[in-house]
Amino acid sequence: MLTLKKTDRIVVLTGAGISAESGIPTFRDAMEGLWSEFDPEELATLSAFKRNPKLVLDWYEWRIKAFVDKAIPNPAHQTLVKWEEYFENFTLITQNVDGLHIKAGNKNVIEFHGNIKRMKCLGHNHKFAWVRKGEEIPLCSVCNSMLRPDVVFFNEMIDPNNLQAANKAVRNCDVFFAIGTSGMVYPAAGYLEEAQILGAKTYVVNTEHHFPASKRDSTVFLRGKAGEILPKIALS
Ligand code: OAD
Repeated sequence: MLTLKKTDRIVVLTGAGISAESGIPTFRDAMEGLWSEFDPEELATLSAFKRNPKLVLDWYEWRIKAFVDKAIPNPAHQTLVKWEEYFENFTLITQNVDGLHIKAGNKNVIEFHGNIKRMKCLGHNHKFAWVRKGEEIPLCSVCNSMLRPDVVFFNEMIDPNNLQAANKAVRNCDVFFAIGTSGMVYPAAGYLEEAQILGAKTYVVNTEHHFPASKRDSTVFLRGKAGEILPKIALS
């Protein structure tokens, strides 16, 4: 089995698959019941929010109450807490907005696509914990503009600080893991190939082959559930 060295500079990119074993459906699976008639790509946009803020806030609030608030970290999240404590140089980049890595105990997490439990204002990006009474559209207590979920909507830019930190880590790593991500949404999806081109050892942990074949040339594919694979990886 694979063994990682304490001095390896490690970057881990996670996606929705790592939270699947905690009961959170992936982004594309999450449309159920009342919401099944909506396309998430039409709800998770700035124009949808401006057109109908109540609908978009209702959808995010449903995801928080139905899944995120009930979820507890699984053995994959717990393994990454041990990795952060063990390695001298460890960076965790997550595309997930569920906050489960932080709940598990990871401290340095780049929340690449934001956090579903936060809001920010349209005017100046003032940030708040999720605050909503009933069906109201909450307003910023500083500038009075509407509050939206603090997540990256489709077609929006990644926060420049997060992008810079993630780019720097990927360009300087020895070992790169892509865990539970389909590798379809850029720029995060480009990191595996970039790390590989720059000479890092690259690993994919996934229940299915999802990264396109051209990217897998020297990538080691560890097939299975993240919660079962990660605890078996040895540290030396
Ligand atoms: P996806 O839903 O696209 O992919 C989830 C991946 O996890 C798939 O490749 C599954 O095969 C895999 N998977 C499922 N269960 C697993 C398990 N137990 N262990 C390991 N792998 C498992 O999710 P992401 O790649 O995270 O963006 O999607 C990326 C982005 O697309 C999201 O962050 C979101 C979405 O649009 C924004 O909202 C901006």
